[in-house]
Amino acid sequence: MSDWSGGYVTDVEYVTACYPEQAPIHLDLMALLAGVEAPNARGRAQYCELGAGQGLTAILIAATNPEIDVHAIDFMPAQVARAQALADQLEIGNVQFHEASFIDMAEGRGPALPRFHYVTMHGVYSWVSRENQRAIVKFLADRLEPGGLVYTSYNALPGWSEGIPVQRLLFDVGSHRAGNPAERVGAGFDLMEKLLKSGAIHLTSNQLVKELLEVEGRNPTYLAHEYMNQYWKPLFFADVARDFAEAKLEYAGPARPLELFDQFMISDEQQALIARFPDPILAETLRDYCRPRTFRADIHVKGARRMSGAERDARLAAVPLTLCKSPLDFAYQLETPTGVATLAEETYRPLVEALAERGPTTIGELLTDPAYKGRRPTSVTEVVGMLMASRAVSAAVPVEDPALTAHCRQINRYVAHRMAQLQTRSGVPLAAPALRNARHLEQIDVVATYLINQQPGIGDEALAARILAFAAPDDAPPPPAEERDRLRAVVAGRRGIWRYLGLID
Ligand SMILES: C[S@@+](CC[C@H](N)C(=O)[O-])C[C@H]1O[C@@H](n2cnc3c(N)ncnc32)[C@H](O)[C@@H]1O
Repeated sequence: MSDWSGGYVTDVEYVTACYPEQAPIHLDLMALLAGVEAPNARGRAQYCELGAGQGLTAILIAATNPEIDVHAIDFMPAQVARAQALADQLEIGNVQFHEASFIDMAEGRGPALPRFHYVTMHGVYSWVSRENQRAIVKFLADRLEPGGLVYTSYNALPGWSEGIPVQRLLFDVGSHRAGNPAERVGAGFDLMEKLLKSGAIHLTSNQLVKELLEVEGRNPTYLAHEYMNQYWKPLFFADVARDFAEAKLEYAGPARPLELFDQFMISDEQQALIARFPDPILAETLRDYCRPRTFRADIHVKGARRMSGAERDARLAAVPLTLCKSPLDFAYQLETPTGVATLAEETYRPLVEALAERGPTTIGELLTDPAYKGRRPTSVTEVVGMLMASRAVSAAVPVEDPALTAHCRQINRYVAHRMAQLQTRSGVPLAAPALRNARHLEQIDVVATYLINQQPGIGDEALAARILAFAAPDDAPPPPAEERDRLRAVVAGRRGIWRYLGLID
């Protein structure tokens, strides 16, 4: 660790990952679902990511939103240089990476920056020192436009309380070992395993320890960044909200759609108990006592312009939505902390089928269409929120500029060639011009769309054969006919969706 690190792990670079929930289009829609106006940029919107890591999120936001200027800040020079080089290689001119620490920026030593409509930070606030947290709040106070949105994700209490003894053990054991942080965290894991086997009472009763030790193929770089930071400290929502209030920020709502609906997150009895507390900060903190949530992703706003329920429904009815998965793969049951949330098929199936048939369409159009034979939902907010919560539907914007589509496809060719490195548990991120965002898809989607763009007239049969050949070594025997038939059906079912996302023509 070096002395500019402020206690943060700087000897190994962070893993490469992309988080589409940081994109302006997602933040705007989540704010609207919470009844809060999105920022009004009156020109080019200005976006800033703090602690941008390898930069993939910022790069894909910039690539899919050429009308937004993206600034990405990180204090690790190797990461900044690598991210800027990738942006330059992919010819993304509207993103700039800056090497600066949060304290540099708070003290006016950072780069000259505009005022922002969006500031996001993923995996930063609960990993840095109090001094750095204060610097971040000062940056928000100084550099966020009125009406601007802030996305913050962090390890949350009380859900992450089991993590406290685990992190302390890994950090302290690792600090007594030589080697890089990934090797040191490995030493901590070895000892934790042995202590668990010996019956150490505070490990045997700790569910997280078992989960961590059971995960195969742990990524040591991720674990080092998660656990080897000196100032790692999970936070109560109320403490983050209090910090942000100093920058005139108010809590707008969650960044994850299902969390909008108490009925799926906590029991009826818990809802009734919490309803007795009108203070939204206390109510939100109490909710965290009732759900198994170790990580929060919050949206705050500088000066909330709140709207009535009727206004919110009317605005949501006009947002174009698109299906991002084949309707055959649409799950009408969602897992929730209280069990399962069911999307009533009488209401949702006709909407999903209409989206599959028509492509991007507003819910207002679908519900008022005489052809809609489904049961009317109780509110537009609920229907849009639940469709978003399904993860099979996203907000969309018609693509008017063919250059945007061409550029995204150029980026997706790059992604296809590096699929193995860019694959995470969420999938492989592709630049989807119609979503103005990245979308994680399966490897088969990446390969199929790549091949279709190479050979636009290719039919499903030939495409299935080429996908199989793409994955197989040269001397592999021909795949069984059933495998080709299965793949042909998959690509036939997904072609329309790839088109709606703007991945193919
Ligand atoms: C856990 S990583 C998250 C990276 C990225 N947001 C992501 O989720 O992939 C945190 C990032 O914050 C950066 N960081 C930590 N402390 C910082 C500081 N004081 N000033 C600037 N950047 C910092 C680190 O270099 C690292 O890239």
